[in-house]
This record gives sequence, structure tokens and C-alpha cells, in this order.
Amino acid sequence: MRVFVDADACRGHGRCYTLSPDAFDSDHEGHSVPKVDDVEGELLQSDRVAASNCPERAIRVRE
Ligand code: F3S
Repeated sequence: MRVFVDADACRGHGRCYTLSPDAFDSDHEGHSVPKVDDVEGELLQSDRVAASNCPERAIRVRE
């Protein structure tokens, strides 16, 4: 599965890298950056937790 952050939608709320620090980091403006683009297993679960908790729905997990 692939994980993407929509840079236009991300507003830097930081819930993704706070809840899933194994999967996301922040850039210098507090916007989300995936640590791994091609994910599986526990990391995929972390990505899904982050995606479901982003208030902007900026994180997409796709095949
Ligand atoms: Fe951005 Fe959503 Fe994370 S707004 S910093 S992707 S919680």
C-alpha cells in the first residue's frame, strides 16, 4: 500500500506524527511527511490511524 499526504490539504495539525511517530515526521513548517511511502504490516496500521485522525483528511492510503 502507498501513503500520500495532500500538501494542499495539510494544515499542520500534527495529529498524524503525534499519534503515529513511526510513520510520519514533520517538515520545518509542521506539515506532515511520510517516513515510508510503501507500507505494510504494523506501519500500515499506523498510517491508517493517522489518516482517520487527520481533521483535514489530508492522508490517503491506497493500493
Ligand atoms: Fe497535516 Fe493532518 Fe497531519 S493536517 S500535519 S496531515 S494531522
